[in-house]
Amino acid sequence: MQISEQDMREAIGFELADILHRQKTILACNEALNLMDDGAHTELRTMAEEDDKNLRMLETVIGSYGIRVEPRYAAVQIADVVNDIVTNEASIPIEKLGAYILLKQNQMMCSHLVHKSVQATDPDIKVALIAFDGVYATFTRHVTELTKLMETAGVEWITGKEPVTGIFGRARDAVSTLAGMVMSKVAKPADEMSVLPILTMDHRKVDVLFKEITENNDPQKDAGLFHQLKADLTSHSIAEEETVYSRFQNLPDMKQLMIDARQEHEDIRTLLDEITDVMDDRESFLDKIDDLQQLVKHHVDEEENQAFPLIKKNSSEEVLMQMSQEFMEAKKRIQENVGVDEIIASAANEDSSEIAASQGGA
Ligand SMILES: [Fe+2]
Ligand SMILES: [Fe+2]
Repeated sequence: MQISEQDMREAIGFELADILHRQKTILACNEALNLMDDGAHTELRTMAEEDDKNLRMLETVIGSYGIRVEPRYAAVQIADVVNDIVTNEASIPIEKLGAYILLKQNQMMCSHLVHKSVQATDPDIKVALIAFDGVYATFTRHVTELTKLMETAGVEWITGKEPVTGIFGRARDAVSTLAGMVMSKVAKPADEMSVLPILTMDHRKVDVLFKEITENNDPQKDAGLFHQLKADLTSHSIAEEETVYSRFQNLPDMKQLMIDARQEHEDIRTLLDEITDVMDDRESFLDKIDDLQQLVKHHVDEEENQAFPLIKKNSSEEVLMQMSQEFMEAKKRIQENVGVDEIIASAANEDSSEIAASQGGA
């Protein structure tokens, strides 16, 4: 079956949107079931904490993937039904647990699908979804633990024989060992990371996309790969200006660097639109992609080798972490506005010049 590059990328985007939506509902259920309370059993509290961390991780993964769409009907419906059962007073505990496990199983299956699909896709997608494997591993483990819990709690509910405390006691050691093992392998979510590795991660993803565009021998893939590159460069550059450049552009040490960098962003976005105009002519397309690659390479080299060390020197750890949150939020906002539609990258150039002028830039 022939599926276009762009459709394939969108399809993964929708799966991720569904997973994110489901994860938000899981968090709401955790709260309704009081899993975060001090009185909750350690295993369940650990799970709920991991759910929380996974939500933030999913946000990071989707930000890095670069396609942000709304969850689909079926995912929203299933999540709503489960949430209704879990929060409804008419439901007995074992029904609540059953519905909750259903949602977690659904989450695991869909994550499995994404995990396997990614293996069959392009390198830039694999890079963007690296942290997803950690999230998927946690979902799988949660389902195993919850299935054990359901079995024993179900028997206790029906026969009244097995005390609930016993179950949790036995599961404790295995869960905490596994939790430690998995979590130590999982990267930190964006809001626990400095902004510099977050920006660098985006830069490396763009490197991979350039490589894929220039090295693939299949013109069919160009449109999809370029659309992704354009979306990534647009959202990264605008978010960077809003949240990073704006902080440092009045610092004497960095002023000129920031003015130049902003100008380079504008040039990059203008060129991105020019490339869209020549998509039908492969030779011109590849020529212009080459220009763009040079431009981006020069820009990224300057950022990583000149700007980043100065940003590090002039910022506390706290500010670096706060900036990463602001950056991810700005990128999220831009991705949501763009969706999967045609992007006009240079539309942002006017705002960028105005901001630079009003703040004493060029
Ligand atoms: Fe950058
Ligand atoms: Fe930049």
